[in-house]
Amino acid sequence: MDKKSVGLSGSFKGNTPQKSFTKNPIKGTKFTIAISSAKGGVGKSTFAMNFALALKAVGQKVGILDADIYGPSLPKMMSINEKPKSQDGKNMEPINQYGIQCMSIGFLVDKDTPMIWRGPMVTSAIKTFTQKVLWKDLDFIIVDMPPGTGDTQLTFAQEIKVDGTIIVSTPQEIALLDVVRGINMFDKLKVPILGLVDNMSFFETDEGKKYNIFGEGGVEKIAKDYKKEFLGKIPINIDLRIASDSGKPLVEKNPNHKISEIFKEIATKIKGSFL
Ligand SMILES: Nc1ncnc2c1ncn2[C@@H]1O[C@H](COP(=O)(O)OP(=O)(O)OP(=O)(O)O)[C@@H](O)[C@H]1O
Ligand SMILES: [Mg+2]
Repeated sequence: MDKKSVGLSGSFKGNTPQKSFTKNPIKGTKFTIAISSAKGGVGKSTFAMNFALALKAVGQKVGILDADIYGPSLPKMMSINEKPKSQDGKNMEPINQYGIQCMSIGFLVDKDTPMIWRGPMVTSAIKTFTQKVLWKDLDFIIVDMPPGTGDTQLTFAQEIKVDGTIIVSTPQEIALLDVVRGINMFDKLKVPILGLVDNMSFFETDEGKKYNIFGEGGVEKIAKDYKKEFLGKIPINIDLRIASDSGKPLVEKNPNHKISEIFKEIATKIKGSFL
């Protein structure tokens, strides 16, 4: 456990005393990696599921924590329709799917029920998921973050030992603006940025012609400008989308697919930086 003092944003500085937080590791795992992006819909959840399965494919024991309280994706993407069990009425057991330990708020509420919660309730749900879930003997927990720079990000950064974050973006200019905001937030909160991923990077036809639908090179350039690692490009691809919608992510469904190989390369790189 390490204690850190974290400042608030500029406009509040001077009026508010600095608060000290204790960062608790998630029990049952060695490393916690958050998959984040300030902008929504860029492919965090798709990346998180496939990356987790890629880490499993390269020999790691992995869990996925879906931290998107308002819009959980894990139950659908991993095809889970059961409720977690509790032996003692206090702690929950994660649900095993494709060799991965999984937890999501979506396991606990009906899929059509909106979570109309204020920030403090989100914070307390996150604490429950990190402290009251019986994660077992994991090397990595992959946290699928909600979009933005809000309560969930702050709770993880201040109160949970996060070993690093991977920032996902599309190469579109409007998304790149948010990447910079995301980098600045994690730098400020002293969460190590493991690298940036360029998702929906390009579209490749069957004949091998490439189209840069959302622009080109922007994510890599930001990585360079901000001295962060560039982890790779994932094309926009129908097999990847269909696999996610079918509840069996591509890396599990077709481990030899060209795109599954990209996920495994990234997983090998990240594994190597921890072990
Ligand atoms: N490389 C890709 N190729 C094709 N489809 C993709 C790709 N990446 C993501 N998608 C699709 O784009 C949509 C949004 O992806 P996803 O839900 O992973 O984004 P997100 O960043 O987690 O969104 P949110 O901010 O709402 O949590 C999904 O339908 C997903 O299947
Ligand atoms: Mg998501």
